Amino acid sequence: MRQLIAGNWKMNGLRAGLAEIRAVDRSLADEPANPLVLICPPATLLAEAAKTVDGGRVAIGAQDCHAEPAGAFTGDISAEMLRDAGATSVIVGHSERRQYHGESSADVARKAAAASRAGLTAIVCVGETEKERDAKKAVSVVTTQLAKSIPADLSVKHLVVAYEPVWAIGTGRTPSNVQILEMHAAARTALVKRFDKEAADIRILYGGSVKPSNAAEILGLKNVDGALVGGASLKASDFLAIIRAAPKR
Ligand code: PGA
Repeated sequence: MRQLIAGNWKMNGLRAGLAEIRAVDRSLADEPANPLVLICPPATLLAEAAKTVDGGRVAIGAQDCHAEPAGAFTGDISAEMLRDAGATSVIVGHSERRQYHGESSADVARKAAAASRAGLTAIVCVGETEKERDAKKAVSVVTTQLAKSIPADLSVKHLVVAYEPVWAIGTGRTPSNVQILEMHAAARTALVKRFDKEAADIRILYGGSVKPSNAAEILGLKNVDGALVGGASLKASDFLAIIRAAPKR
């Protein structure tokens, strides 16, 4: 399975930032088509970004969606609108949404269902806090989040999972290889219980302080099928270095 390297720009990026997306896309044009590359800019840049990379190596995704297709939800954006703007995927349940917008795993499941309804891939994020890890609850927290955040009947072709320990996001700290291996194996086992053989086709990304200097090591671990990259995805040179560190599969 080809890996997926996804960039999450969060609330960063003005129109001038489109040059970084263009630079990533153009730099990869002459390289073998491996791994898959996705950039999730803020919603304001989606349509323009999608035009910029049309026919190229980079796909464009969004960072959140509303569960309903349309309606009186001021300020919200539906999965159908994201698709219409050129997105192929949407991140749902990022820990910053869970933390700052009070999103529950049930909310996340509704958003993931909306993504699939609109023909988008849902990148479902899960991850424990530092307190939960210290209390030795990391695996149970993550597997519970997974069970509740993935809606019934979701097709595996519309699902990517991202394991992002909250304490590793934007902190420069990463789990040990042993901790990543343990969690990704637990996530795979949970997915196998739910999806049987098809679980082998679900990418499980690691996210949290991935950078050029640690990408090769993390991406080489078993059951790690790519990365969700925040800060280091904002600059084309850093993001390209991470993309190039992915094992060819
Ligand atoms: P980071 O963020 O790479 O800046 O730690 C990752 C994320 O939140 O997706």
